[in-house]
Amino acid sequence: MNELKNKVAVVTGAGGGIGRAVAAALGKEGMRVVLFGGNDNSKLMATASAVRKSGGEPLVFAGDLTDMNFISDTVPKVLKETGGIDVLINNAGKAFNAAFEDTPADVFDKLFAINVKVPYFLTQKLLPYLKKSDRAEIINVCSVVSHAGYPMQSAYVASKHALLGFTKSLAAELYEKNIRVHAICPGGVYTDMVKVARPDLSDDGMIKPEEIADIVMFFLKNRGNAVIDEICVHRVNKQPFLV
Ligand SMILES: NC(=O)c1ccc[n+]([C@@H]2O[C@H](COP(=O)([O-])OP(=O)(O)OC[C@H]3O[C@@H](n4cnc5c(N)ncnc54)[C@H](OP(=O)(O)O)[C@@H]3O)[C@@H](O)[C@H]2O)c1
Repeated sequence: MNELKNKVAVVTGAGGGIGRAVAAALGKEGMRVVLFGGNDNSKLMATASAVRKSGGEPLVFAGDLTDMNFISDTVPKVLKETGGIDVLINNAGKAFNAAFEDTPADVFDKLFAINVKVPYFLTQKLLPYLKKSDRAEIINVCSVVSHAGYPMQSAYVASKHALLGFTKSLAAELYEKNIRVHAICPGGVYTDMVKVARPDLSDDGMIKPEEIADIVMFFLKNRGNAVIDEICVHRVNKQPFLV
């Protein structure tokens, strides 16, 4: 029996890259997939079409997630459409490549807003509904830089360390409530984020977004006694690193 069929998943940053691949994989299980993305509605519509094609039911909510009013206004609309939430994938994120001295405060704030504050408070908003689900899962897309320090990425690295810290605390806090919380820490995945930051790199040997989607599905399909907190994904080291 497919226990995920008709369950409701929220995916942030669903307009492309990892988010789109995850949304399509959830659709394949017959899930209802709530797509949160930036202001570019056309990107989310393309993901919606991929979800529909794979057999799922998409619901699209375009808007800036760092606007806390957008979250407050949208969550009731989502609940009205879906009646509940079972899965939350906190995937939306931004990177910034520059020397420490060249990282201005407004960029730092923007990175922490989307990479840390949004997962924190979107989860807080959705938690009452996740608590009602019989198989609630929260998956935070962290990074290899949640563990390691890379040069020229100090603000991004700091934000992804913070996201992993939040994930660990939340996992411990929600365990007794039967809500599983996981971190995925990918290395270089060939998405727009990498294409913009490192146009000199090709997709040769890089992780595909679909491979991260496979890991999401592994978490969702394996709710046994062995709790897996975190999966780190490294690529074959063919090119010098990266975002
Ligand atoms: N690619 C990698 O090598 C890699 C490695 C480790 C971890 N990650 C993480 O994986 C996640 C997905 O990234 P990706 O590689 O798939 O890159 P991506 O294609 O650039 O996806 C990021 C998504 O986040 C959305 N987003 C950013 N700011 C937003 C905001 N304020 N409101 C709503 N949506 C917003 C973007 O929407 P718009 O395009 O509309 O702005 C975009 O759809 C990120 O958290 C990233 O840090 C990526």
